Amino acid sequence: MAKRTIVTLPGDGIGRAVLNETLRVLEAAGFEADYVEGDIGWEFWKTEGDPLPQRTIDLLEKHKIALFGAITSKPKDAAFEELAPELQKKGLVYSSPIVGLRQHFNLDICMRPCHTYKGNPLNFIRRGADGGIEEPEVDVVIFRQNTEGLYGGVEWSNPPEKVYDALMTHPKFVKNFSNAPKEEVSVSTRIFTKKATERILKGAFEHAKKYGYKSVTVCEKPNVIRETSGMMYKMAQQMQKADYPDIELWNTNIDAQMMWLTKNPEDYGVIVAGNMFGDIVSDGFAGLIGGLGFACSAQFNPDSGIGVFEPTHGSAPKYADYPVSIVNPIAMIESACMMLDFINENDVAAKIRKAVAEVIAEGKVRTYDMMKMRGKPDVVENGAASTSEMADAVIAKL
Ligand code: NAI
Ligand code: MG
Repeated sequence: MAKRTIVTLPGDGIGRAVLNETLRVLEAAGFEADYVEGDIGWEFWKTEGDPLPQRTIDLLEKHKIALFGAITSKPKDAAFEELAPELQKKGLVYSSPIVGLRQHFNLDICMRPCHTYKGNPLNFIRRGADGGIEEPEVDVVIFRQNTEGLYGGVEWSNPPEKVYDALMTHPKFVKNFSNAPKEEVSVSTRIFTKKATERILKGAFEHAKKYGYKSVTVCEKPNVIRETSGMMYKMAQQMQKADYPDIELWNTNIDAQMMWLTKNPEDYGVIVAGNMFGDIVSDGFAGLIGGLGFACSAQFNPDSGIGVFEPTHGSAPKYADYPVSIVNPIAMIESACMMLDFINENDVAAKIRKAVAEVIAEGKVRTYDMMKMRGKPDVVENGAASTSEMADAVIAKL
């Protein structure tokens, strides 16, 4: 079989360090691929005025699968100031390249698994009824709609007349907002479409079916946000009834879910939500299994087969220039395992996950976050593993 080509998108800050270590792990696990690097991130914003150049989009179009490190985003004004002087007159506006990739390729399914590794000192613990300490085993997969909702970007401050007039046709707007001057009104919309809602629900149910999860929980707020959350829940009910009668459908409100996730996280299986609530609830669960050093994700379009696999952490700029990289590569390694599953290299993925589990269970090699140290350049001298030492430990188990 022809060797597969994977696009690597290291991006900014610690992105390159975690990605490079992950490539070593993939190789050691026997995964054979060619890699081509794509340009993305702050550097290309500064020098070309575009953090996501067309050539990078073309690469992904061609090869379909990308491993992505992290990017740096900065507020509008800071972004403008760092732009090369000759580009400053062009009226360019910075927008996140990862959001750009999502939108361009309609990567509308975002999947974020959170599972407990035995022996991880960062695991969530709680007190049981008998007063003893319990360490619940979390095994949750969050399906987050990735392109619509509150992050869809349809928003205005001092909205144009037409928009304002449209809002004024809604009795609640008239009642609650019309006494504020138009110039002082900001609006961010939350738009859900049936098609995208159906796709994310289907993704969630299919995953539950394939991997044997007993429940799918819609985590929204249908009692208050009646139109969008309400539509998602109603569609989930219909889908469950028609196609997935063996899977239980649960319904939680996002606020209550954030409370329950520390009470009974082991009860949940697959969770599905819109864009922002999915973002929130996945960060909540990630906190129970070790936080940013462990939180992995996939974003994909099931029709085109295009997928981008990335840790959920950012570029952590303050650690980027340390002489020895100290950040935890496990989130990136786990993201690569999700990629392997996506391209049906499940055995290699399982092998790597087993090696990671062994390293964590053994507890001899731990990055600074796992040792509850503050991230400083001297953590390695003080016994923490560096990024590459953690990768070495995983490779040794392989
Ligand atoms: P961040 O995730 O980069 O870092 C926050 C903190 O989490 C770090 O200071 C560090 O203490 C810890 N951390 C992150 N990754 C870790 C790892 N692998 N191992 C151990 N500890 C780790 O978030 P922050 O500082 O809010 O944002 C920094 C930049 O990253 C910003 O420009 C932001 O816009 C961007 N960002 C990019 C994302 C992406 O590429 N998908 C996601 C989130 C933020
Ligand atoms: Mg987030």
